[in-house]
Amino acid sequence: MSQIRDLIIDRIKSIIINVDGCKSNVIDEKLVDDIVVANRKAFISIRADKSNIEKYKQLKIKVEKVLENIDDLDSFSVTLTSHEDNPLSKNQSNKSTKKGIDSISNIIAVASGKGGVGKSTTSINLALAIKNLGYNVGILDADIYGPSIPKLVGENKKPKVSNQGKILPIIKYNISIMSIGFLISEDTPMIWRGPMVISAINQMLNDVDWGVLDFLIVDMPPGTGDVQLTMAQKVPMSGAVIISTPQDLALIDAKKGLEMFKKVNVPIIGIIENMSTFICPHCKEETYIFGKEGAEFEAKRQNVDFLGGIPLEVAIRETSDAGEPILSCYPEASVSKSFLSIAQKVVNKSDAKGKSNNPNLIIQ
Ligand SMILES: Nc1ncnc2c1ncn2[C@@H]1O[C@H](COP(=O)(O)OP(=O)(O)O)[C@@H](O)[C@H]1O
Ligand SMILES: [Mg+2]
Repeated sequence: MSQIRDLIIDRIKSIIINVDGCKSNVIDEKLVDDIVVANRKAFISIRADKSNIEKYKQLKIKVEKVLENIDDLDSFSVTLTSHEDNPLSKNQSNKSTKKGIDSISNIIAVASGKGGVGKSTTSINLALAIKNLGYNVGILDADIYGPSIPKLVGENKKPKVSNQGKILPIIKYNISIMSIGFLISEDTPMIWRGPMVISAINQMLNDVDWGVLDFLIVDMPPGTGDVQLTMAQKVPMSGAVIISTPQDLALIDAKKGLEMFKKVNVPIIGIIENMSTFICPHCKEETYIFGKEGAEFEAKRQNVDFLGGIPLEVAIRETSDAGEPILSCYPEASVSKSFLSIAQKVVNKSDAKGKSNNPNLIIQ
């Protein structure tokens, strides 16, 4: 795959452009934001300056032309991504690439094969639980199609930009939070195409001033399509946690999620079973609405760890709707303790093991 990428770079490099009166090329001028190759498809995004869009449209056509007829590539797509600055007239040599995430020790994907299984609810409570264990934590809402972290934490402030031009994450409950939901209005229908999603995620990873983090929890978009696969491949994940409800149908999707991460060599930290059981608030009787221990069984079958179950509880839904996660409202509740126990397992299985006594230490 990297050979195809190299070939793409070589071909694009052959496009000569004129910058401030000197001859240069598209690659050296860092006009290409991203090149992603997955499943014999390539996605190329070009940094475009809105005020000079015609020029960039011509450049896009030139790039498409040089990318024709590459063996082992079924299709490609070139998109223009908008940036405030003007790459054609500025020296971009100090543009940070992965620098912003050098300071993050562990990036953990929280994923599910499908939506509505409690992925976002689990992500935010897991982030808070890891924070409670003494670590520096951030959460990145990568669910570009349905960002729900702003609602779950009751925030809709627009993030500020630092003097260095980095986006400052929203800080709440002592964790750093970034979501596309902070940047676009809830009613704006967004039609995201694959490369744009990757570009937006890259921006939220690299152009956000995350500071030093022990853990960045990434609430992934639901599903296992090309976008999710590319994201799993592009974002330097240290591991993935899969959320599933216990019923067979959800487990089929969870399995697809597991396979997707395995395919791109991201280690599976384990499976969490959400809505595992319902305890009646009146008579305390336990009901297995979605079946019993399905995720635990599937974890065994897939030879991955079962991290624990979270019951279906009215208080979880109520606190989520109220914009204050249960771990923050009721840290002593039994479900909060379940999140803490899961968080401890996640920490134990990651690189930051044993760091909680000295959370500000940077592990190199
Ligand atoms: N364990 C739970 N108990 C009660 N309600 C839950 C639980 N987990 C999630 N929910 C509720 O289910 C809905 C979907 O959860 P959400 O986290 O948004 O799912 P996803 O991110 O997978 O789409 C939300 O209304 C949420 O409050
Ligand atoms: Mg969600």
